[in-house]
Amino acid sequence: HVPEQVTIREVGPRDGLQNEPAEVPTEDKIAWIDSLSETGLGYIEISSFVHPKWIPQLKDAREVAKAIKRHPDITYAALVPNKKGLEAAIETGVDEVSVFMSASETHNRKNINKSIEETYPVLEEVVKEAKQAGKTVRGYVSTVFGCPYEGDVEPDKVFQVGNRLFEMGIDELSLGDTIGVADPKQVDSFLANMDGRIPFSKAAMHFHNTSGMALANVLVSLERGVTIFDGALGGLGGCPYADGASGNLATDDLVHMLERMGIDTGIHKGKLTDAAAFIQEKIGIELPSHQMQMFNRK
Ligand code: HMG
Ligand code: MG
Repeated sequence: HVPEQVTIREVGPRDGLQNEPAEVPTEDKIAWIDSLSETGLGYIEISSFVHPKWIPQLKDAREVAKAIKRHPDITYAALVPNKKGLEAAIETGVDEVSVFMSASETHNRKNINKSIEETYPVLEEVVKEAKQAGKTVRGYVSTVFGCPYEGDVEPDKVFQVGNRLFEMGIDELSLGDTIGVADPKQVDSFLANMDGRIPFSKAAMHFHNTSGMALANVLVSLERGVTIFDGALGGLGGCPYADGASGNLATDDLVHMLERMGIDTGIHKGKLTDAAAFIQEKIGIELPSHQMQMFNRK
């Protein structure tokens, strides 16, 4: 049994571009996000307000957030690691902010320079102030299915971190297979375990296609009742130099599979291809999604 409708969160402008070696000019990012706004997507994560030394690709978050055309029925979100990032995000008027941390200690430290315990009070303040400013908040847990430094991650640790984020007041939790190691059997048993501990209606799966199992993982997630998935158009973010995270699940492949299965996404496939072709030209390499490979061979 699979759901009749699925919600897709487009994270390409953030998770895709942060892993691409190509420098995309600010005006091209803006034009790309504007074209994504025409596809029927209800949610676009546009950038992140993190330290520009850590993620130079997204150092123009402010300019991008201020210049994009806003559609009233689309949620425009940005990643924020702390209060400084939140203040910048609020100033630019994004609708939603995403906070993030890892289920494994070493990845958390390498990614945001703090232990898990030290991260909680930082995010608690961010969530509280974001809510006071009228924003919705998404929480990401990374390294859910494996950590590049520690290997296996205990599902209990993931549920513990996820519940702390819900206690802070997040509206949705995104469970990240940061390095794309999850296999369908692992995802199935993880989600069976999650039943009764994390609300499925507020849980999104965030797969990376590093080892080619992302769509298989989507299928078992659908069968377990997940209805929200993150994707990056064209499978953007497959930087061969970045160790750790590469190759998000491709939104276009996801939409194709779901529509073939009779599951409604509300997304216009032709317009999605137009938007993918646009960013492919700007980054100057062929995008890895199957849909774009077919497009490129035509
Ligand atoms: P830090 O060095 O510990 O920060 O970095 P700090 O608080 O000690 O401050 C040091 C300096 O940074 C100060 O400047 C601050 O003002 C500045 P100085 O006084 O030295 O001139 N600073 C900032 N500047 C701009 N924006 C900010 C900001 N905060 C402080 N927000 C920090 C801590 C969190 C800032 C840093 O580690 C960082 O930026 N990390 C970002 C890491 C990142 O973006 N990773 C990728 C996203 S997560 C992901 O991809 C996973 C996900 O996709 C899910 C999945 O796949 O699992 C979400
Ligand atoms: Mg990611």
